[in-house]
Amino acid sequence: MRHILLNLAIGLFGAILLVLTLAGAAMIWGERLDLAAAQNQEMQEGRNLIATNLLPATDTIKDQARIANIIRAFDDNPLVSAHLVDPWGFDRLQSVPARVAYQPPSWFVWLVAPKRQEVHIDFGQTGTLHLQPYLLPSVETIWHRTAMNLGAMAGGLFFISVIAIFLVRRSLHVLTDLEQASVRLLSGDEGQMGARSTLGQAFDRLAGKFQETIAQNARLTRMIDRLQEEERSELARNLHDDIGPQLFAVDVDASTIIRQSEQQSPDLHAIAERASAIRASATTMKRHVRQLLGQLRPNEALKLGLEPAVRNLAGYWNERRPELKFGISIASEPHNGLLDGTLYAVIREAIANAVKHGHPRYIDISVDSSAQELRLRVADDGGGAASFEGPGYGVIGMRERVQSVGGRFIIDRRVDVAGVVVAATIPFGQNGHNPIGARQ
Ligand SMILES: Nc1ncnc2c1ncn2[C@@H]1O[C@H](COP(=O)(O)OP(=O)(O)O)[C@@H](O)[C@H]1O
Ligand SMILES: [Mg+2]
Repeated sequence: MRHILLNLAIGLFGAILLVLTLAGAAMIWGERLDLAAAQNQEMQEGRNLIATNLLPATDTIKDQARIANIIRAFDDNPLVSAHLVDPWGFDRLQSVPARVAYQPPSWFVWLVAPKRQEVHIDFGQTGTLHLQPYLLPSVETIWHRTAMNLGAMAGGLFFISVIAIFLVRRSLHVLTDLEQASVRLLSGDEGQMGARSTLGQAFDRLAGKFQETIAQNARLTRMIDRLQEEERSELARNLHDDIGPQLFAVDVDASTIIRQSEQQSPDLHAIAERASAIRASATTMKRHVRQLLGQLRPNEALKLGLEPAVRNLAGYWNERRPELKFGISIASEPHNGLLDGTLYAVIREAIANAVKHGHPRYIDISVDSSAQELRLRVADDGGGAASFEGPGYGVIGMRERVQSVGGRFIIDRRVDVAGVVVAATIPFGQNGHNPIGARQ
């Protein structure tokens, strides 16, 4: 800031010097013209005076007396001096020059004084009368006048400059505040500027938003960690529940086969039966593994499209809740990685919530679209909910995902039966693409 003020002061000083120089030059030029005109006129008058008083020249003594009178007439003249020089070159008489209190510097005299004009009138034996410009008194007046004018001007300009520097300094304070507040903000402090100016208010609002975003990020990170943990423990539970009993059955069947085959007369029929049972277990396990992999890698499942992925999900739940039926109607497939993923994640959490918190017999899943938007609805008849603010992040996660692609999300109790409905509406951008999704 000091740097800016110093530059400004130097700039203003330079500008003042330039203005004063130009103004001074203009003033001196004007004075010089005026002085030339005045000198001209005075010389002309001197010439007339001589012409009317001294001609024709007859008598030397009388002439001398008359010339002396004329010369005295130029006493104290501020523009012209008169003197008589005899034929031998000596000054005989001269007018008394006007007094000068202060002698201006010679460069100033040189600047202001116009071209010299001289008048010489020859009186033969009596000598030569010279009228010469004598400008010192006028130049002195001009010197004072110019100094006063330029001084007043310099004072005025200096005053304006001081005010300008003061105003700039005040505005720069806002910038300094802004700089300090930004540093505080970036180092994790509050970073408020104090709403003294419009800029300060805007900055404070921005800082507030920034803090909010940081808090939201932290919340999202916690949410993702928590979701991951929930998902992992669910997968571990499923592995234990689904694969564990099958492996146990395979173990028992294999032991039976070994025992049978070690007998004297093995029961071949029983061995074949156990072997078939092992195959059946293997088939079941393969199906479970496929479903688990579908859960682990939803993107893989989604490669075939949203509908097969949702049907795989429904199959997974059917294994665990044979009484639960699904109605799946996916009329419109976005065929867009981001939107498919969003819809799939919302459907998965909605089903998980219905099973976890209620006793549904039927879950209806539908996806359809108009020209402007894509609509998703998942409705269960599990009994409904008192509140949707659970300890988990399922509902928050669904909402965040839908909002992140510019959509609206609603979760509510159903009005027709006791159950919960989850609905999402995601608008398309131009050309039927979701503007956010289209970039993916
Ligand atoms: N389909 C549903 N049926 C009954 N209650 C529900 C349903 N969906 C959500 N809820 C309620 O909303 C709460 C919040 O759900 P969620 O955020 O997914 O957390 P969590 O499932 O970990 O409890 C749940 O605890 C539950 O009380
Ligand atoms: Mg949940």
